[in-house]
Amino acid sequence: MSPLLSMEDVSLSFKEKRVLDHLAFQVERGECFGFLGPSGAGKTTTIKLLTRQLVKDSGRITLFGRPIEHASNADYERIGVLSDTSALYERMSIEDNLRFYAKIRGVTGNNLPTLLERMNLADDRKTLVKNCSKGMRQRAALLAALVHGPELLFLDEPTSGLDPAARAEVHKMLRELNDAGTTVFLTTHDMAEAEDLCRRVGILDEGRLVACDAPEALRLRFAKNEVLMRLADGRVVRTSKDAAGASAVAEALASGGCLSIHSVEPNLEEVFLELTGREF
Ligand SMILES: Nc1ncnc2c1ncn2[C@@H]1O[C@H](COP(=O)(O)OP(=O)(O)OP(=O)(O)O)[C@@H](O)[C@H]1O
Ligand SMILES: [Mg+2]
Repeated sequence: MSPLLSMEDVSLSFKEKRVLDHLAFQVERGECFGFLGPSGAGKTTTIKLLTRQLVKDSGRITLFGRPIEHASNADYERIGVLSDTSALYERMSIEDNLRFYAKIRGVTGNNLPTLLERMNLADDRKTLVKNCSKGMRQRAALLAALVHGPELLFLDEPTSGLDPAARAEVHKMLRELNDAGTTVFLTTHDMAEAEDLCRRVGILDEGRLVACDAPEALRLRFAKNEVLMRLADGRVVRTSKDAAGASAVAEALASGGCLSIHSVEPNLEEVFLELTGREF
């Protein structure tokens, strides 16, 4: 089966500045794909290309198995977008905003009560957006991207600026959507978020994809040859993943004084450092 979307050798420059440099990746149907990178890496630009708000200079992009140049309006009905500038009308309530977006999308909005409930906004549905907290706005904006039941959802930093509770609510909603079959393309600065939500991640640096794999596979690729033991006497012992390490571990276990043993794998921030030589 062809991927739901793919980029092959895609480049884009703004004037003389190369912003995307020979990008290539695929997203399969049903995936939650994380697109990670520091500020200015090209994440939003990539979403804009995939949603035809910008046109590539070179390379090939396919969407729903067809070249993006041939995408129809019907194809765009299959997509939802939460951009970094998604707009809600300040003087309208959350519910009226969602009804408005449902109308634009040509759907009844019969699903709105369920969506509001799932996003924990049912009690606040009459609140004017201008009186909403940032978390409420972001959750409402996410619902606005969902009113027509898209198969493919582009989310540009959906949890940026949210407090931990609001972030957890958005994550819960995204997991539910993805479990129900929605394909999610998510950009984030937040490595932990990507590790948490995404089966695969692409890591973008200055317009180049420096890695594209499962977070676990990336961490294992850069894993250190190290095992960390915490002992009851307060010592933290580092040993190697080999025969010498095995006897140190066996000894600690036999002594009965070993509180924990961890194999040392880097997190995605450390992976980024390994790949680029720079802090994320
Ligand atoms: N319309 C434009 N004209 C000129 N340069 C642009 C334009 N849009 C983006 N850029 C530049 O392209 C690069 C990538 O921008 P982009 O917004 O895609 O980054 P990003 O990864 O989304 O960053 P952030 O995490 O801050 O949102 C940046 O250097 C940015 O300044
Ligand atoms: Mg951006």
